[in-house]
Amino acid sequence: MHEKLIILDFGSQTTQLIGRRVRELNTYCEIVPYNKFPFGDPTVKGVILSGSPYSVNDANSFKTDLTNIRKQYPVLGICYGAQFLAYSSGGKVENADSREYGRAHLTYINGDDPLLKDIPAGSQVWMSHGDTITVLPESFRIIASTEDVEAGAYRIEGEDTWGVQFHPEVYHTKDGTQLLDNFLTICGCSRDWTPASFIESTVAGLKEQLKDDKVILALSGGVDSSVTAVLLNKAIGKNLTCIFVDHGLLRKNEFENVLKDYEHLGLNVIGVNAKDRFYGELAGVTDPETKRKIIGKGFIDVFDEEAHKLKDIKWLGQGTIYPDVIESLSITGTVIKSHHNVGGLPEKMNLKLVEPLRLLFKDEVRRVGTELGMMPHLIKRHPFPGPGLGIRILGDITPEKVRILQEADDIYMSLMREWGLYDQIWQAGAILLPIRSVGVMGDERTYENTIALRAVTSTDAMTADWAHLPYDFLAKVSNDIINKVKGVNRVVYDISSKPPATIEWE
Ligand code: XMP
Repeated sequence: MHEKLIILDFGSQTTQLIGRRVRELNTYCEIVPYNKFPFGDPTVKGVILSGSPYSVNDANSFKTDLTNIRKQYPVLGICYGAQFLAYSSGGKVENADSREYGRAHLTYINGDDPLLKDIPAGSQVWMSHGDTITVLPESFRIIASTEDVEAGAYRIEGEDTWGVQFHPEVYHTKDGTQLLDNFLTICGCSRDWTPASFIESTVAGLKEQLKDDKVILALSGGVDSSVTAVLLNKAIGKNLTCIFVDHGLLRKNEFENVLKDYEHLGLNVIGVNAKDRFYGELAGVTDPETKRKIIGKGFIDVFDEEAHKLKDIKWLGQGTIYPDVIESLSITGTVIKSHHNVGGLPEKMNLKLVEPLRLLFKDEVRRVGTELGMMPHLIKRHPFPGPGLGIRILGDITPEKVRILQEADDIYMSLMREWGLYDQIWQAGAILLPIRSVGVMGDERTYENTIALRAVTSTDAMTADWAHLPYDFLAKVSNDIINKVKGVNRVVYDISSKPPATIEWE
């Protein structure tokens, strides 16, 4: 069992970011709802209290009794966490003026305090709160201040408890990582959470859990399912059967290429060509949700049929990752659209679930994949939706439209790699619009299709900004698509961010 830090989640948008920062410092942590502290767990080394969208003065804000936690572990309250510690010890928290948003600097630092070790005076911090602590309880000692906030950071005398009103987890707090690192030192964490240690303990755990049982897994070509497969393969070898379904809505040549990659990785994989079945079921359907349902159900049916050809399968492997797990525990109810490609499978097939990545963030999955020796192009692949090009062809789907989109998308993605832009982008792809427009080619009037290009930057797909791709690059892509893809005479670039738009168009 790895030692761990507990992050009590009071609902802040940056809670997951705290988790990622701690993991980057090679320390395992778990995010749990603010009132679900795992008392009695011997592996807990320390506790972080997150921020919150609420004010501690709100009647419905999240409150919990911290007495026993404070006695037993080092505690670091961040923003609301710091305010809640002060408030619940008899201090006063009041609405602040607008100066407490954004950049500030630590004008005073107590350099002897272990939490602030190696953080220089003047260091930039990021403030983001509507409230501020105006009266500190008796035993609270200020250890850092900013221009506008006297109690920028404090320590409770006689306890290993600290509070910071700024956000050490965000990029704009220059020495935030140092501060978190100092806290881990205070907690006595040994920093042994690495991709190699994860692989070793996970493979050992899987061997014990699965013994000689047989497992089936749906591969999508994406990083999560691929890393899941390689881990399971390492643990149980030929007892793992992977199924990779071609629904005819993959990128150009993707089925063949990815299948080769999987074989190269030594996976026991069955490729199923189900194109015609999907094209048949989708013919004439234009409504986005109906298309999604048809594709989702078709996928489950094909997978189920394949699974029935195999004998004695007991487990279903899935590439669930930590953000999905936390989201399902979400306390604030602000669950943002979730997507499941094989969501209906466990119930339908009556199999037990094995999810070796359920504790990892996406960046950790990539690190584990690299450590497992997987090819960089598999690891760095952009996310691609389960329904594939089916939700990037607006309106009804035909094999001819799939061909046009595949060609256009392939030009776009190949150029993106060639120009060295691929790895800077979270996700990119082409969309075929149900719009035809007039053009001129040579002396001829044309009346052809429109392709939209989408590229976004993001860290988790929950929010995203449109990528500011170079004009020269866009010019080249547009030119090549219009010249080489028969049936397209116009290319446009999508400049919408999420929210309010979404990444996919359907
Ligand atoms: P949206 O369009 O909601 O997409 O901004 C967010 C992320 O989710 C991907 N996406 C899906 N992934 N099955 C998936 O596995 C789906 O049905 C699905 N729909 C959207 C999308 O590509 C983006 O990365």
